[in-house]
Amino acid sequence: SDLCDEGRARGRRVFIRADLNVPQDDAGHITEDTRIRASVPCIQMALAGGAAVMVTSHLGRPTEGELKPEDSLAPVAKRLSELLGRPVPLKQDWVDGVDVQPGEVVLLENCRVNKGEKKNDPALAKKMAALCDIYVNDAFGTAHRAEATTYGLAQYAPIACAGPLLAAEIDAITKALAQPRRPLVAIVAGSKVSTKLTILQSLAKKVDQLIVGGGIANTFMLAAGLPIGKSLAEADLVGEARSVMLAMKARNAEVPIPTDVVVAKTFAADAPATVKAASDVQPDEMILDIGPQTAQKLAQQLKSAGTIVWNGPVGVFEFDAFAHGTETIARAIAASDAFSIAGGGDTLAAIAKYGIEKDVGYISTGGGAFLEVLEGKTLPALEILEKRAAG
Ligand code: 3PG
Repeated sequence: SDLCDEGRARGRRVFIRADLNVPQDDAGHITEDTRIRASVPCIQMALAGGAAVMVTSHLGRPTEGELKPEDSLAPVAKRLSELLGRPVPLKQDWVDGVDVQPGEVVLLENCRVNKGEKKNDPALAKKMAALCDIYVNDAFGTAHRAEATTYGLAQYAPIACAGPLLAAEIDAITKALAQPRRPLVAIVAGSKVSTKLTILQSLAKKVDQLIVGGGIANTFMLAAGLPIGKSLAEADLVGEARSVMLAMKARNAEVPIPTDVVVAKTFAADAPATVKAASDVQPDEMILDIGPQTAQKLAQQLKSAGTIVWNGPVGVFEFDAFAHGTETIARAIAASDAFSIAGGGDTLAAIAKYGIEKDVGYISTGGGAFLEVLEGKTLPALEILEKRAAG
């Protein structure tokens, strides 16, 4: 990121790949803006250095070659402009040329709409590289993807470097897990075991306690022989869940299985919620949260943890009737003396909902990227920057 400092950036065209992929409601209002706020320092650094600044990001997973209204970065441009206190024009069809003067910043429309972005087409990456003198990758949240703006550009731009957010994220997450204060407790929740299987397997070798939640917990409950009714679960991954439990047991570590749950007959905000013993779930019921007894027990354990890693809400916290488990966990993390580190879109939303931002040790802007760093994987976007730095 020193490449962005005054001497080198003055009068130069700086292309910043940020991750501004933020959640929006149906009306297109941004519901959680951590990623935009986290991207501001890099942009300000480039502007302060006198650069002509171009910023881009993907938003969602659009169809290539077609910009639907909901795929537009327009709401992001507006929010960024408020945060920077200056105009941030949004540029369409920018691959062949961008009009931007030193001291100005423009936002380049959703880069994933460009044909070849996802598959890192070299022709596209070379065109984009021609737009700039300096390429800065500050998109930690997308650093696990090798796409044209996260990988190819780093190969072909005249100068390529990591931005301050990308560098800080890697540093913070790696350090937190290098020599963690114990007990080390991880909370891995979310809808599917399949998307988090590798992180579960990798954490099973390191952590003292692995708390599972959401659909993941349902699969573990199946593995433990409990009835889960019509809850979301992956029956084909029960064997994998069992192996994770056995691996933990062999190390004298544990995967706590909920003893009580909150169920409903339909998936809806106003569905009547019933608390019951985990062994008592009926075929027509679905588990939408952990029960109060389980939440209380986990909260106690979190309070005495040394380090906490949190990814994923343990229940459907968007619906108040099923938010108690996630709120209890969030407040226990906030109250704990442990060093806590949290990441993932839903986790950020829960942190914002309960207003515990200041009580979490480190909040990552990454979802998949956060998990991959936790697993000890090298992120492709970082790998290519390191390769270039090594000459
Ligand atoms: C994320 O939200 O995790 C990142 O922005 C990456 O998005 P992707 O999974 O669509 O690549």
